[in-house]
Amino acid sequence: MEGLARLEYRGYDSAGVALIAGEHVVTAKRAGKLANLVAALAQESLPESGTAIGHTRWATHGAPTDENAHPHLGGEDGKLALIHNGIIENFHGLRAALIEEGIHFQSETDTEVVAQLLARSYDKVGDLTEAMRQIVGELKGAFTLLAVHADQPGVVVGARRNSPLVVGIGDGETYMGSDVAAFIGYTREALELAQDQIVTITTAGATIINFDGTPGQGKAYHVDWDAAAAQKGGFPNFMAKEINDQPHAVADTLLGRTNEAGALVLDELRIDEAELRAVDKIVIIACGTAAYAGMVAKYAIEHWTRIPCEVELAHEFRYRDPVVNARTLVVAISQSGETMDTLMAVKHARVLGARVIAICNTHGSTIPRESDAALYTHAGPEIAVASTKAFLAQITACYILGLYLAQLRGGTYADEAQAVMRDLGETPAKIQTVLDGLDRVREIARFMVDTRSVLFLGRHVGYPVALEGALKLKELAYIHAEGFAAGELKHGPIALIEAGQPVFVIVPSPHSEHGLHDKVVSSIQEIRARGARTIVIAEEGDEDVVPFADEIIRVPVTPTLLAPLLTVVPLQVFACELASAKGLDVDQPRNLAKSVTVE
Ligand code: AGP
Repeated sequence: MEGLARLEYRGYDSAGVALIAGEHVVTAKRAGKLANLVAALAQESLPESGTAIGHTRWATHGAPTDENAHPHLGGEDGKLALIHNGIIENFHGLRAALIEEGIHFQSETDTEVVAQLLARSYDKVGDLTEAMRQIVGELKGAFTLLAVHADQPGVVVGARRNSPLVVGIGDGETYMGSDVAAFIGYTREALELAQDQIVTITTAGATIINFDGTPGQGKAYHVDWDAAAAQKGGFPNFMAKEINDQPHAVADTLLGRTNEAGALVLDELRIDEAELRAVDKIVIIACGTAAYAGMVAKYAIEHWTRIPCEVELAHEFRYRDPVVNARTLVVAISQSGETMDTLMAVKHARVLGARVIAICNTHGSTIPRESDAALYTHAGPEIAVASTKAFLAQITACYILGLYLAQLRGGTYADEAQAVMRDLGETPAKIQTVLDGLDRVREIARFMVDTRSVLFLGRHVGYPVALEGALKLKELAYIHAEGFAAGELKHGPIALIEAGQPVFVIVPSPHSEHGLHDKVVSSIQEIRARGARTIVIAEEGDEDVVPFADEIIRVPVTPTLLAPLLTVVPLQVFACELASAKGLDVDQPRNLAKSVTVE
Protein backbone atom coordinates (compact mmCIF):
# COMPACT_ATOMS: atom_id res chain seq x y z
CA MET A 1 0.00 0.00 0.00
CA GLU A 2 2.92 2.37 0.66
CA GLY A 3 4.22 1.62 -2.81
CA LEU A 4 0.80 2.39 -4.31
CA ALA A 5 0.69 5.67 -2.39
CA ARG A 6 4.00 6.62 -3.98
CA LEU A 7 2.66 5.75 -7.43
CA GLU A 8 -0.68 7.49 -6.97
CA TYR A 9 0.45 10.48 -9.06
CA ARG A 10 0.55 8.10 -12.03
CA GLY A 11 -3.13 7.40 -11.82
CA TYR A 12 -5.68 8.01 -9.15
CA ASP A 13 -9.16 7.18 -10.34
CA SER A 14 -9.26 3.69 -8.77
CA ALA A 15 -6.96 1.23 -7.01
CA GLY A 16 -6.75 -2.42 -6.04
CA VAL A 17 -4.62 -5.23 -4.68
CA ALA A 18 -4.50 -9.01 -5.09
CA LEU A 19 -2.54 -11.45 -2.95
CA ILE A 20 -2.08 -15.17 -2.66
CA ALA A 21 -3.47 -16.68 0.56
CA GLY A 22 -3.38 -20.46 0.74
CA GLU A 23 -5.08 -21.93 -2.33
CA HIS A 24 -6.73 -18.66 -3.27
CA VAL A 25 -6.17 -15.27 -4.79
CA VAL A 26 -7.80 -12.61 -2.64
CA THR A 27 -8.52 -9.17 -4.08
CA ALA A 28 -9.81 -5.78 -2.92
CA LYS A 29 -10.40 -2.88 -5.26
CA ARG A 30 -12.20 0.45 -5.09
CA ALA A 31 -13.03 3.34 -7.40
CA GLY A 32 -11.72 6.75 -6.42
CA LYS A 33 -8.60 7.71 -4.56
CA LEU A 34 -6.32 5.16 -2.91
CA ALA A 35 -7.76 6.33 0.43
CA ASN A 36 -11.01 4.55 -0.48
CA LEU A 37 -9.14 1.24 -0.75
CA VAL A 38 -7.23 1.92 2.46
CA ALA A 39 -10.53 2.56 4.26
CA ALA A 40 -12.05 -0.63 2.81
CA LEU A 41 -9.06 -2.67 4.00
CA ALA A 42 -9.31 -1.09 7.43
CA GLN A 43 -12.88 -2.37 7.58
CA GLU A 44 -12.09 -5.79 6.22
CA SER A 45 -8.37 -6.64 6.21
CA LEU A 46 -6.89 -9.17 3.83
CA PRO A 47 -5.03 -12.26 5.06
CA GLU A 48 -1.26 -12.14 5.50
CA SER A 49 0.67 -12.98 2.37
CA GLY A 50 4.15 -12.73 0.92
CA THR A 51 3.00 -12.52 -2.70
CA ALA A 52 0.93 -9.57 -3.87
CA ILE A 53 0.31 -7.13 -6.71
CA GLY A 54 -1.28 -3.68 -6.50
CA HIS A 55 -2.40 -1.01 -8.98
CA THR A 56 -3.48 2.62 -9.13
CA ARG A 57 -5.44 3.29 -12.29
CA TRP A 58 -5.70 6.12 -14.82
CA ALA A 59 -8.62 4.88 -16.88
CA THR A 60 -8.18 4.51 -20.62
CA HIS A 61 -10.92 1.96 -21.38
CA GLY A 62 -13.96 1.91 -19.11
CA ALA A 63 -15.00 4.38 -16.44
CA PRO A 64 -13.33 4.41 -13.01
CA THR A 65 -15.63 1.94 -11.17
CA ASP A 66 -14.99 -0.87 -8.68
CA GLU A 67 -15.57 -3.43 -11.47
CA ASN A 68 -13.16 -1.74 -13.87
CA ALA A 69 -10.47 -1.25 -11.21
CA HIS A 70 -7.48 -3.59 -11.37
CA PRO A 71 -6.57 -6.39 -10.51
CA HIS A 72 -8.70 -8.40 -12.88
CA LEU A 73 -9.21 -12.12 -12.37
CA GLY A 74 -8.78 -14.73 -15.08
CA GLY A 75 -10.17 -18.22 -15.50
CA GLU A 76 -13.31 -19.81 -14.14
CA ASP A 77 -11.61 -20.60 -10.84
CA GLY A 78 -10.44 -17.01 -10.38
CA LYS A 79 -7.01 -18.27 -9.33
CA LEU A 80 -5.17 -15.77 -11.52
CA ALA A 81 -4.98 -11.99 -10.96
CA LEU A 82 -3.51 -9.45 -13.36
CA ILE A 83 -2.76 -5.72 -13.38
CA HIS A 84 -1.89 -3.67 -16.44
CA ASN A 85 -0.63 -0.24 -17.48
CA GLY A 86 -0.96 0.86 -21.10
CA ILE A 87 -3.40 0.22 -23.93
CA ILE A 88 -4.07 -3.10 -25.67
CA GLU A 89 -4.82 -1.87 -29.17
CA ASN A 90 -6.44 -5.09 -30.43
CA PHE A 91 -8.49 -5.98 -27.37
CA HIS A 92 -11.84 -5.78 -29.15
CA GLY A 93 -11.03 -8.70 -31.44
CA LEU A 94 -9.44 -10.73 -28.63
CA ARG A 95 -12.48 -10.08 -26.41
CA ALA A 96 -14.92 -11.17 -29.12
CA ALA A 97 -12.98 -14.40 -29.68
CA LEU A 98 -13.01 -15.20 -25.96
CA ILE A 99 -16.74 -14.49 -25.71
CA GLU A 100 -17.19 -16.93 -28.61
CA GLU A 101 -15.41 -19.49 -26.41
CA GLY A 102 -17.95 -18.85 -23.66
CA ILE A 103 -15.91 -16.55 -21.46
CA HIS A 104 -17.98 -14.05 -19.44
CA PHE A 105 -16.50 -10.64 -18.68
CA GLN A 106 -17.13 -8.64 -15.51
CA SER A 107 -15.71 -5.37 -16.80
CA GLU A 108 -15.37 -3.31 -19.99
CA THR A 109 -11.59 -3.10 -19.73
CA ASP A 110 -8.89 -4.25 -22.12
CA THR A 111 -7.08 -5.60 -19.03
CA GLU A 112 -9.65 -8.26 -18.22
CA VAL A 113 -9.24 -9.62 -21.75
CA VAL A 114 -5.55 -10.17 -21.02
CA ALA A 115 -6.36 -11.80 -17.66
CA GLN A 116 -8.63 -14.31 -19.41
CA LEU A 117 -6.09 -14.94 -22.17
CA LEU A 118 -3.38 -15.55 -19.55
CA ALA A 119 -5.60 -17.89 -17.51
CA ARG A 120 -6.44 -19.90 -20.63
CA SER A 121 -2.73 -20.11 -21.48
CA TYR A 122 -1.86 -21.13 -17.91
CA ASP A 123 -4.39 -23.95 -18.00
CA LYS A 124 -2.55 -25.30 -21.06
CA VAL A 125 1.08 -24.97 -19.90
CA GLY A 126 0.78 -25.01 -16.08
CA ASP A 127 3.50 -22.37 -15.62
CA LEU A 128 2.83 -18.63 -15.23
CA THR A 129 6.06 -17.49 -16.90
CA GLU A 130 5.53 -19.67 -19.97
CA ALA A 131 1.83 -18.78 -20.02
CA MET A 132 2.79 -15.09 -20.11
CA ARG A 133 5.29 -15.75 -22.86
CA GLN A 134 2.64 -17.51 -24.90
CA ILE A 135 0.20 -14.58 -24.85
CA VAL A 136 2.38 -11.48 -25.21
CA GLY A 137 2.77 -12.19 -28.91
CA GLU A 138 -1.00 -11.81 -29.37
CA LEU A 139 -1.10 -8.35 -27.79
CA LYS A 140 -0.71 -5.14 -29.82
CA GLY A 141 -0.13 -1.76 -28.19
CA ALA A 142 1.68 -0.66 -25.04
CA PHE A 143 1.60 -2.72 -21.88
CA THR A 144 3.18 -3.50 -18.54
CA LEU A 145 1.58 -6.64 -17.06
CA LEU A 146 1.98 -8.21 -13.61
CA ALA A 147 0.27 -11.48 -12.68
CA VAL A 148 0.05 -13.95 -9.81
CA HIS A 149 -1.54 -17.44 -9.73
CA ALA A 150 -2.72 -19.26 -6.59
CA ASP A 151 -1.02 -22.45 -7.80
CA GLN A 152 2.36 -20.66 -7.77
CA PRO A 153 2.64 -18.89 -4.42
CA GLY A 154 5.82 -16.85 -4.03
CA VAL A 155 5.94 -15.98 -7.73
CA VAL A 156 5.03 -12.76 -9.56
CA VAL A 157 5.48 -12.60 -13.34
CA GLY A 158 5.79 -9.32 -15.24
CA ALA A 159 6.02 -8.39 -18.92
CA ARG A 160 6.62 -5.05 -20.65
CA ARG A 161 6.38 -3.52 -24.10
CA ASN A 162 6.51 0.28 -24.64
CA SER A 163 5.52 0.81 -21.01
CA PRO A 164 7.74 1.11 -17.93
CA LEU A 165 8.67 -1.70 -15.52
CA VAL A 166 11.61 -1.79 -13.10
CA VAL A 167 12.69 -4.54 -10.69
CA GLY A 168 13.78 -3.94 -7.08
CA ILE A 169 16.22 -6.46 -5.57
CA GLY A 170 15.82 -6.58 -1.78
CA ASP A 171 17.27 -8.83 0.88
CA GLY A 172 15.12 -11.93 0.56
CA GLU A 173 12.43 -9.81 -1.07
CA THR A 174 11.97 -8.86 -4.72
CA TYR A 175 9.80 -6.08 -6.16
CA MET A 176 8.51 -4.76 -9.47
CA GLY A 177 6.95 -1.40 -10.20
CA SER A 178 6.18 1.15 -12.91
CA ASP A 179 8.93 3.24 -11.46
CA VAL A 180 11.32 2.96 -8.53
CA ALA A 181 8.97 5.02 -6.36
CA ALA A 182 7.03 1.78 -5.79
CA PHE A 183 9.78 0.11 -3.79
CA ILE A 184 12.33 2.79 -2.97
CA GLY A 185 11.30 2.48 0.68
CA TYR A 186 12.58 -1.10 0.72
CA THR A 187 15.52 -1.29 -1.66
CA ARG A 188 17.63 1.01 -3.84
CA GLU A 189 19.09 -1.83 -5.91
CA ALA A 190 17.15 -1.88 -9.18
CA LEU A 191 17.20 -3.66 -12.53
CA GLU A 192 16.29 -1.74 -15.67
CA LEU A 193 14.59 -3.93 -18.27
CA ALA A 194 14.81 -3.83 -22.05
CA GLN A 195 11.84 -3.87 -24.43
CA ASP A 196 9.79 -7.09 -24.82
CA GLN A 197 10.99 -8.86 -21.69
CA ILE A 198 9.34 -11.13 -19.11
CA VAL A 199 10.48 -11.08 -15.47
CA THR A 200 9.77 -13.77 -12.90
CA ILE A 201 10.45 -12.74 -9.32
CA THR A 202 10.64 -14.84 -6.14
CA THR A 203 12.22 -14.19 -2.75
CA ALA A 204 15.49 -15.41 -4.32
CA GLY A 205 15.55 -12.66 -6.96
CA ALA A 206 14.57 -12.06 -10.59
CA THR A 207 14.85 -14.21 -13.74
CA ILE A 208 14.51 -12.40 -17.07
CA ILE A 209 13.69 -13.83 -20.51
CA ASN A 210 12.92 -12.16 -23.80
CA PHE A 211 9.53 -12.62 -25.46
CA ASP A 212 11.19 -15.23 -27.75
CA GLY A 213 12.18 -17.28 -24.71
CA THR A 214 15.93 -16.58 -24.86
CA PRO A 215 17.60 -15.51 -21.59
CA GLY A 216 17.51 -11.77 -20.96
CA GLN A 217 19.58 -9.41 -18.87
CA GLY A 218 18.48 -6.55 -16.64
CA LYS A 219 20.79 -3.56 -16.22
CA ALA A 220 21.55 -3.22 -12.51
CA TYR A 221 21.74 0.26 -11.04
CA HIS A 222 21.63 1.92 -7.64
CA VAL A 223 18.77 4.40 -7.13
CA ASP A 224 20.12 7.58 -5.57
CA TRP A 225 16.89 9.56 -5.99
CA ASP A 226 14.69 10.34 -3.04
CA ALA A 227 11.07 9.15 -3.20
CA ALA A 228 9.76 12.54 -4.38
CA ALA A 229 12.28 12.68 -7.22
CA ALA A 230 11.41 9.10 -8.12
CA GLN A 231 7.79 10.10 -8.77
CA LYS A 232 9.10 12.65 -11.25
CA GLY A 233 11.21 10.05 -13.01
CA GLY A 234 14.34 11.88 -11.90
CA PHE A 235 13.18 15.19 -13.47
CA PRO A 236 13.29 18.28 -11.21
CA ASN A 237 9.52 18.79 -11.44
CA PHE A 238 6.37 17.26 -12.93
CA MET A 239 6.32 19.83 -15.73
CA ALA A 240 9.77 18.77 -16.98
CA LYS A 241 8.69 15.14 -16.69
CA GLU A 242 5.45 15.78 -18.60
CA ILE A 243 7.25 17.75 -21.34
CA ASN A 244 9.46 14.70 -21.78
CA ASP A 245 6.41 12.40 -21.71
CA GLN A 246 5.06 14.04 -24.87
CA PRO A 247 6.28 11.45 -27.42
CA HIS A 248 4.39 8.80 -25.41
CA ALA A 249 1.33 11.05 -24.98
CA VAL A 250 1.01 11.44 -28.76
CA ALA A 251 1.84 7.79 -29.49
CA ASP A 252 -0.63 6.50 -26.89
CA THR A 253 -3.39 8.81 -28.14
CA LEU A 254 -2.93 7.31 -31.62
CA LEU A 255 -3.07 3.73 -30.32
CA GLY A 256 -6.13 1.67 -31.19
CA ARG A 257 -7.71 4.23 -33.50
CA THR A 258 -7.03 2.52 -36.82
CA ASN A 259 -7.86 -1.00 -37.97
CA GLU A 260 -5.55 -3.47 -39.70
CA ALA A 261 -6.25 -1.79 -43.05
CA GLY A 262 -5.21 1.59 -41.61
CA ALA A 263 -8.71 3.05 -41.69
CA LEU A 264 -9.82 5.14 -38.73
CA VAL A 265 -12.07 3.30 -36.28
CA LEU A 266 -13.65 5.41 -33.52
CA ASP A 267 -16.20 3.03 -32.05
CA GLU A 268 -15.97 4.89 -28.74
CA LEU A 269 -17.70 7.85 -30.42
CA ARG A 270 -21.18 6.31 -30.36
CA ILE A 271 -22.72 9.06 -32.49
CA ASP A 272 -24.82 7.90 -35.42
CA GLU A 273 -22.72 8.08 -38.60
CA ALA A 274 -25.65 9.59 -40.51
CA GLU A 275 -25.73 12.47 -37.99
CA LEU A 276 -22.01 13.03 -38.42
CA ARG A 277 -22.43 13.04 -42.20
CA ALA A 278 -25.15 15.70 -41.85
CA VAL A 279 -22.97 18.07 -39.81
CA ASP A 280 -22.66 21.43 -41.58
CA LYS A 281 -20.69 23.36 -38.95
CA ILE A 282 -18.20 22.50 -36.22
CA VAL A 283 -17.71 24.68 -33.16
CA ILE A 284 -14.77 23.95 -30.89
CA ILE A 285 -15.20 25.25 -27.34
CA ALA A 286 -12.46 25.27 -24.70
CA CYS A 287 -10.37 27.51 -22.44
CA GLY A 288 -6.71 28.40 -22.22
CA THR A 289 -4.27 25.92 -23.69
CA ALA A 290 -7.13 23.63 -24.72
CA ALA A 291 -8.56 26.49 -26.79
CA TYR A 292 -5.20 26.93 -28.52
CA ALA A 293 -5.22 23.22 -29.35
CA GLY A 294 -8.62 23.82 -30.93
CA MET A 295 -7.25 26.78 -32.92
CA VAL A 296 -4.48 24.56 -34.31
CA ALA A 297 -7.01 21.85 -35.14
CA LYS A 298 -9.31 24.29 -36.97
CA TYR A 299 -6.85 24.63 -39.86
CA ALA A 300 -6.59 20.87 -40.27
CA ILE A 301 -10.26 20.02 -39.76
CA GLU A 302 -11.43 22.58 -42.32
CA HIS A 303 -8.77 21.46 -44.79
CA TRP A 304 -9.70 17.77 -44.52
CA THR A 305 -13.49 17.90 -44.04
CA ARG A 306 -14.44 21.15 -45.86
CA ILE A 307 -16.82 21.82 -42.94
CA PRO A 308 -16.69 25.37 -41.50
CA CYS A 309 -14.98 25.16 -38.11
CA GLU A 310 -15.14 27.92 -35.49
CA VAL A 311 -13.11 28.01 -32.29
CA GLU A 312 -14.73 29.83 -29.39
CA LEU A 313 -13.59 30.48 -25.83
CA ALA A 314 -16.15 28.55 -23.82
CA HIS A 315 -16.89 31.48 -21.48
CA GLU A 316 -17.67 33.68 -24.51
CA PHE A 317 -19.62 31.05 -26.46
CA ARG A 318 -22.36 30.82 -23.92
CA TYR A 319 -23.18 34.51 -23.82
CA ARG A 320 -23.00 35.49 -27.48
CA ASP A 321 -26.23 33.84 -28.63
CA PRO A 322 -24.34 31.48 -30.98
CA VAL A 323 -25.85 30.11 -34.20
CA VAL A 324 -26.07 26.45 -33.23
CA ASN A 325 -28.60 23.78 -34.22
CA ALA A 326 -29.02 20.04 -34.73
CA ARG A 327 -26.54 20.08 -37.64
CA THR A 328 -23.82 21.68 -35.53
CA LEU A 329 -21.15 19.44 -34.04
CA VAL A 330 -19.69 20.99 -30.89
CA VAL A 331 -16.28 19.69 -29.81
CA ALA A 332 -15.42 20.45 -26.17
CA ILE A 333 -11.70 20.11 -25.40
CA SER A 334 -10.73 19.73 -21.75
CA GLN A 335 -7.81 17.97 -20.04
CA SER A 336 -9.51 17.81 -16.65
CA GLY A 337 -13.08 17.40 -17.89
CA GLU A 338 -14.13 19.66 -15.00
CA THR A 339 -13.61 23.22 -16.32
CA MET A 340 -16.83 24.96 -15.36
CA ASP A 341 -16.74 27.46 -18.25
CA THR A 342 -16.48 24.60 -20.71
CA LEU A 343 -19.06 22.47 -18.92
CA MET A 344 -21.63 25.28 -18.95
CA ALA A 345 -20.96 25.87 -22.65
CA VAL A 346 -21.51 22.15 -23.32
CA LYS A 347 -24.85 22.25 -21.54
CA HIS A 348 -25.83 25.38 -23.51
CA ALA A 349 -24.85 23.77 -26.81
CA ARG A 350 -27.02 20.74 -26.06
CA VAL A 351 -29.98 22.94 -25.18
CA LEU A 352 -29.55 24.50 -28.63
CA GLY A 353 -29.77 21.03 -30.18
CA ALA A 354 -26.12 20.43 -31.09
CA ARG A 355 -24.37 17.07 -30.74
CA VAL A 356 -21.36 17.36 -28.43
CA ILE A 357 -18.14 15.36 -28.51
CA ALA A 358 -15.75 15.81 -25.57
CA ILE A 359 -12.01 15.49 -26.16
CA CYS A 360 -10.82 14.78 -22.65
CA ASN A 361 -7.90 13.31 -20.72
CA THR A 362 -9.77 12.23 -17.61
CA HIS A 363 -12.15 9.27 -17.67
CA GLY A 364 -15.22 9.61 -15.54
CA SER A 365 -15.04 13.42 -15.38
CA THR A 366 -18.08 15.64 -15.80
CA ILE A 367 -17.67 17.09 -19.31
CA PRO A 368 -17.55 13.70 -21.09
CA ARG A 369 -20.53 12.61 -18.98
CA GLU A 370 -22.50 15.66 -20.07
CA SER A 371 -21.56 15.19 -23.73
CA ASP A 372 -23.05 12.87 -26.36
CA ALA A 373 -19.70 11.14 -26.88
CA ALA A 374 -16.08 11.28 -25.81
CA LEU A 375 -12.79 10.82 -27.62
CA TYR A 376 -10.17 10.38 -24.89
CA THR A 377 -6.60 11.56 -25.09
CA HIS A 378 -4.18 9.07 -23.53
CA ALA A 379 -1.61 11.47 -22.13
CA GLY A 380 -1.73 9.97 -18.65
CA PRO A 381 -2.30 12.15 -15.58
CA GLU A 382 -1.08 15.72 -16.06
CA ILE A 383 0.02 16.87 -12.61
CA ALA A 384 1.68 20.21 -13.40
CA VAL A 385 -0.84 23.05 -13.55
CA ALA A 386 0.61 24.33 -16.82
CA SER A 387 -0.61 22.01 -19.55
CA THR A 388 1.98 20.53 -21.92
CA LYS A 389 1.52 16.85 -22.89
CA ALA A 390 -2.26 17.24 -22.83
CA PHE A 391 -1.93 20.05 -25.40
CA LEU A 392 -0.13 17.78 -27.87
CA ALA A 393 -2.53 14.92 -27.14
CA GLN A 394 -5.53 17.26 -27.69
CA ILE A 395 -4.20 18.32 -31.10
CA THR A 396 -3.62 14.65 -31.94
CA ALA A 397 -7.16 13.69 -30.88
CA CYS A 398 -8.65 16.61 -32.86
CA TYR A 399 -6.75 15.42 -35.94
CA ILE A 400 -8.02 11.88 -35.44
CA LEU A 401 -11.58 13.24 -35.23
CA GLY A 402 -11.10 15.44 -38.31
CA LEU A 403 -9.65 12.60 -40.35
CA TYR A 404 -12.46 10.32 -39.18
CA LEU A 405 -15.08 12.83 -40.33
CA ALA A 406 -13.28 13.20 -43.68
CA GLN A 407 -13.16 9.42 -44.07
CA LEU A 408 -16.85 9.13 -43.11
CA ARG A 409 -17.95 11.83 -45.50
CA GLY A 410 -15.83 10.53 -48.34
CA GLY A 411 -14.37 13.98 -48.89
CA THR A 412 -11.32 14.87 -50.94
CA TYR A 413 -9.10 13.79 -48.07
CA ALA A 414 -10.80 10.52 -47.17
CA ASP A 415 -8.19 8.49 -49.04
CA GLU A 416 -5.38 10.62 -47.64
CA ALA A 417 -6.51 10.12 -44.03
CA GLN A 418 -4.30 7.05 -43.81
CA ALA A 419 -1.29 8.96 -45.14
CA VAL A 420 -1.80 11.63 -42.51
CA MET A 421 -2.17 8.95 -39.79
CA ARG A 422 1.18 7.55 -40.94
CA ASP A 423 2.73 11.02 -40.71
CA LEU A 424 1.20 11.40 -37.22
CA GLY A 425 2.70 8.03 -36.29
CA GLU A 426 6.16 9.41 -37.13
CA THR A 427 5.66 12.48 -34.93
CA PRO A 428 6.61 11.01 -31.51
CA ALA A 429 10.13 10.28 -32.77
CA LYS A 430 10.38 13.83 -34.15
CA ILE A 431 9.23 15.28 -30.82
CA GLN A 432 11.97 13.25 -29.16
CA THR A 433 14.49 14.73 -31.62
CA VAL A 434 13.40 18.22 -30.61
CA LEU A 435 13.58 17.31 -26.89
CA ASP A 436 17.14 16.01 -27.35
CA GLY A 437 18.35 19.30 -28.86
CA LEU A 438 17.20 22.00 -26.42
CA ASP A 439 20.33 22.78 -24.40
CA ARG A 440 20.70 26.12 -26.17
CA VAL A 441 17.06 27.00 -25.37
CA ARG A 442 17.82 26.42 -21.70
CA GLU A 443 20.90 28.66 -21.94
CA ILE A 444 18.84 31.42 -23.59
CA ALA A 445 16.21 31.10 -20.84
CA ARG A 446 18.77 31.45 -18.07
CA PHE A 447 20.36 34.40 -19.91
CA MET A 448 16.93 36.10 -20.14
CA VAL A 449 16.02 35.58 -16.48
CA ASP A 450 15.52 39.35 -15.99
CA THR A 451 13.58 40.01 -19.17
CA ARG A 452 10.34 41.95 -18.69
CA SER A 453 8.51 41.22 -21.90
CA VAL A 454 8.65 38.64 -24.67
CA LEU A 455 6.67 38.56 -27.92
CA PHE A 456 5.75 35.48 -29.95
CA LEU A 457 4.93 35.55 -33.66
CA GLY A 458 3.41 32.80 -35.74
CA ARG A 459 1.29 32.39 -38.83
CA HIS A 460 -1.32 29.81 -39.94
CA VAL A 461 -1.02 26.87 -37.51
CA GLY A 462 1.97 28.67 -36.02
CA TYR A 463 -0.28 31.47 -34.75
CA PRO A 464 -1.97 29.41 -31.97
CA VAL A 465 1.50 28.07 -31.11
CA ALA A 466 2.62 31.69 -30.57
CA LEU A 467 -0.37 32.22 -28.28
CA GLU A 468 0.43 29.03 -26.34
CA GLY A 469 4.10 29.99 -26.03
CA ALA A 470 3.07 33.34 -24.57
CA LEU A 471 0.63 31.69 -22.17
CA LYS A 472 3.31 29.30 -20.88
CA LEU A 473 5.65 32.20 -20.15
CA LYS A 474 2.89 34.22 -18.43
CA GLU A 475 1.69 31.41 -16.19
CA LEU A 476 5.10 29.95 -15.32
CA ALA A 477 7.52 32.90 -15.16
CA TYR A 478 4.97 35.67 -14.47
CA ILE A 479 6.43 37.69 -17.38
CA HIS A 480 4.29 39.79 -19.70
CA ALA A 481 4.18 37.92 -22.97
CA GLU A 482 2.02 38.26 -26.01
CA GLY A 483 1.42 36.13 -29.08
CA PHE A 484 0.53 37.67 -32.43
CA ALA A 485 -0.37 36.55 -35.89
CA ALA A 486 2.77 37.63 -37.76
CA GLY A 487 0.63 39.25 -40.45
CA GLU A 488 -0.79 41.56 -37.77
CA LEU A 489 2.57 43.24 -37.04
CA LYS A 490 2.09 46.17 -39.41
CA HIS A 491 -1.43 46.73 -38.07
CA GLY A 492 -0.07 47.92 -34.73
CA PRO A 493 2.07 45.53 -32.71
CA ILE A 494 5.30 46.47 -34.54
CA ALA A 495 5.19 49.68 -32.49
CA LEU A 496 6.25 47.50 -29.55
CA ILE A 497 9.56 46.64 -31.18
CA GLU A 498 12.55 48.42 -29.71
CA ALA A 499 16.24 47.61 -29.27
CA GLY A 500 16.71 44.28 -27.52
CA GLN A 501 13.05 43.28 -27.47
CA PRO A 502 13.07 39.45 -27.47
CA VAL A 503 10.75 37.99 -30.11
CA PHE A 504 10.21 34.27 -30.76
CA VAL A 505 9.14 33.58 -34.34
CA ILE A 506 7.65 30.23 -35.40
CA VAL A 507 8.58 29.93 -39.08
CA PRO A 508 6.49 27.72 -41.43
CA SER A 509 8.29 25.12 -43.46
CA PRO A 510 9.80 26.45 -46.72
CA HIS A 511 7.88 23.55 -48.32
CA SER A 512 4.48 24.67 -46.97
CA GLU A 513 1.78 24.72 -49.63
CA HIS A 514 0.42 28.03 -48.30
CA GLY A 515 3.60 29.90 -49.30
CA LEU A 516 3.75 31.86 -46.04
CA HIS A 517 7.38 31.00 -45.33
CA ASP A 518 8.82 33.99 -47.20
CA LYS A 519 6.28 36.39 -45.66
CA VAL A 520 7.30 35.28 -42.15
CA VAL A 521 10.99 35.67 -43.05
CA SER A 522 10.15 39.22 -44.13
CA SER A 523 8.50 39.83 -40.75
CA ILE A 524 11.69 38.68 -39.02
CA GLN A 525 13.68 41.07 -41.22
CA GLU A 526 11.35 43.99 -40.32
CA ILE A 527 11.55 43.48 -36.55
CA ARG A 528 15.30 42.78 -36.65
CA ALA A 529 15.79 46.05 -38.53
CA ARG A 530 14.12 47.77 -35.55
CA GLY A 531 16.35 46.16 -32.97
CA ALA A 532 14.41 43.05 -31.97
CA ARG A 533 16.35 40.07 -30.63
CA THR A 534 14.98 37.33 -32.89
CA ILE A 535 14.77 33.75 -31.61
CA VAL A 536 13.61 31.73 -34.57
CA ILE A 537 12.09 28.23 -34.61
CA ALA A 538 12.73 26.90 -38.10
CA GLU A 539 12.82 23.62 -39.96
CA GLU A 540 16.07 21.75 -40.48
CA GLY A 541 17.69 23.06 -43.67
CA ASP A 542 15.85 26.38 -43.81
CA GLU A 543 18.76 28.74 -44.54
CA ASP A 544 16.60 31.77 -45.44
CA VAL A 545 16.19 32.66 -41.76
CA VAL A 546 19.91 32.67 -40.97
CA PRO A 547 20.71 36.32 -41.85
CA PHE A 548 17.94 37.65 -39.59
CA ALA A 549 18.04 35.30 -36.61
CA ASP A 550 19.98 35.95 -33.43
CA GLU A 551 19.16 32.38 -32.37
CA ILE A 552 17.86 29.46 -34.45
CA ILE A 553 16.10 26.48 -32.86
CA ARG A 554 15.78 23.66 -35.37
CA VAL A 555 12.87 21.20 -35.69
CA PRO A 556 12.74 18.20 -38.04
CA VAL A 557 11.01 18.44 -41.42
CA THR A 558 7.33 17.59 -40.98
CA PRO A 559 4.03 18.27 -42.82
CA THR A 560 2.72 21.80 -42.24
CA LEU A 561 -0.37 20.78 -40.26
CA LEU A 562 1.67 18.60 -37.86
CA ALA A 563 4.36 21.22 -37.21
CA PRO A 564 2.70 22.57 -34.01
CA LEU A 565 3.40 19.21 -32.32
CA LEU A 566 7.10 20.06 -32.71
CA THR A 567 7.35 23.86 -32.67
CA VAL A 568 5.58 24.29 -29.31
CA VAL A 569 8.13 22.10 -27.46
CA PRO A 570 11.01 24.64 -27.40
CA LEU A 571 8.56 27.27 -26.10
CA GLN A 572 7.43 24.95 -23.28
CA VAL A 573 11.03 24.24 -22.30
CA PHE A 574 11.96 27.93 -22.52
CA ALA A 575 9.15 28.93 -20.14
CA CYS A 576 9.87 26.05 -17.77
CA GLU A 577 13.61 26.80 -17.66
CA LEU A 578 13.16 30.55 -17.22
CA ALA A 579 10.69 30.01 -14.37
CA SER A 580 13.10 27.56 -12.73
CA ALA A 581 15.96 30.07 -13.16
CA LYS A 582 13.77 32.58 -11.30
CA GLY A 583 13.31 30.04 -8.52
CA LEU A 584 9.57 29.83 -9.07
CA ASP A 585 7.32 26.83 -8.36
CA VAL A 586 6.99 25.40 -11.84
CA ASP A 587 4.36 22.79 -10.96
CA GLN A 588 2.10 25.05 -8.90
CA PRO A 589 2.34 28.62 -10.27
CA ARG A 590 0.83 31.40 -8.16
CA ASN A 591 -2.90 32.19 -8.51
CA LEU A 592 -3.55 29.11 -10.71
CA ALA A 593 -5.41 25.82 -10.22
CA LYS A 594 -5.08 22.69 -12.31
CA SER A 595 -8.78 22.65 -12.94
CA VAL A 596 -10.87 25.84 -12.92
CA THR A 597 -14.10 24.46 -11.50
CA VAL A 598 -15.71 27.86 -10.95
CA GLU A 599 -16.98 30.28 -13.60
C1 AGP B 1 -2.86 25.72 -19.40
O1 AGP B 1 -1.47 25.69 -19.16
C2 AGP B 1 -3.63 26.23 -18.22
N1 AGP B 1 -3.39 25.43 -17.07
C3 AGP B 1 -5.11 26.45 -18.52
O2 AGP B 1 -5.17 27.39 -19.58
C4 AGP B 1 -5.93 25.20 -18.98
O3 AGP B 1 -5.51 24.79 -20.25
C5 AGP B 1 -7.40 25.62 -19.06
O4 AGP B 1 -7.81 26.01 -17.77
C6 AGP B 1 -8.33 24.50 -19.56
O5 AGP B 1 -8.26 23.40 -18.66
P1 AGP B 1 -8.92 22.00 -19.13
O6 AGP B 1 -8.17 21.57 -20.34
O7 AGP B 1 -8.74 21.08 -17.97
O8 AGP B 1 -10.37 22.28 -19.44
